[in-house]
Amino acid sequence: MAAKQYIWLNGKFTDFGNAKVHILTHSLQYGSGIFEGIRAYQSGSRAAVFRLGDHVKRFINTAKIYSMDLGYSEKELTDAIIGLIRKNRLQQCYIRPFAYYDDTRIGLSTEGKKISVAIAAIPFGNYFQNKGKGISCKISSWKRINSEILPPHAKASGNYRNSILASQEAKASGADEAIMLTTNGYVAEGPGENIFFARDGKLMTPPASSDILMGITRDTIIKIAEEKGFIVEEREMHREELYIADELFFTGTAAELTPIVKVDGKKIGSGKTGPVTKLLSDALTELVTGKDTAFHDWVTLV
Ligand SMILES: Cc1ncc(COP(=O)(O)O)c(C=O)c1O
Repeated sequence: MAAKQYIWLNGKFTDFGNAKVHILTHSLQYGSGIFEGIRAYQSGSRAAVFRLGDHVKRFINTAKIYSMDLGYSEKELTDAIIGLIRKNRLQQCYIRPFAYYDDTRIGLSTEGKKISVAIAAIPFGNYFQNKGKGISCKISSWKRINSEILPPHAKASGNYRNSILASQEAKASGADEAIMLTTNGYVAEGPGENIFFARDGKLMTPPASSDILMGITRDTIIKIAEEKGFIVEEREMHREELYIADELFFTGTAAELTPIVKVDGKKIGSGKTGPVTKLLSDALTELVTGKDTAFHDWVTLV
């Protein structure tokens, strides 16, 4: 029988079905929540949480950007996540820490409003149905938010209205996902993924200044690729560089490493998952499941 499932809510394990908010909740009305997305992979009979410390740090940094006092230390949040995976008896899952203004008074002000912290851990498979054969993308007419408007380095709920508009547009035109440009016309990222391209044996990915979320998978891929002897350049790039790439792929906790085989109807490289993509994807799988111990401190076994 499957174990009863819980949500960690303000320090207590609450029945999954009872973790509810009021319709007037500030963060539901105004998109003022912040969150994280973390994965745990099955490693033998245990769950291997990938880069837990880095995800918790990013959650705390997002809170800092938005002046939210979470009321929990890094260690307390880390212990809560580990405790929840144990309590829900999960061997693989997606973990969603979420902090929100738990207040039903109308008005944008956040002053004096209670902040609640919740953590969910649920079984999770592929983010993209077509991950295996590679996905198609469309360059979005919606530009990526920039830090003069909303901080792109923060993982905040409101940012994802921008992402959702881009995804909806891409899907309406028959593509699987969007690629967003900065307001200056450089490639930024996907709605919930960072992007890389390979050409002539080198890997390129947009830099922090291209209004990206500083992805933890992006950082992982940079480190794996460099260890394997690739030159990785973080630099601004024009959209047409994507069209003439040998290989193109997204990275993300949800997306993992997803090949992109078409952009704006143009076939990328051979139109199939390329050898660099495959090499890095396989290496990522080895790492997250704890089989490759090269970066062993990235894996927390529960
Ligand atoms: C906008 C955006 N970019 C990139 C990423 C990839 O980041 P990570 O690899 O840390 O999951 C995500 C997912 O969290 C995202 O939401």
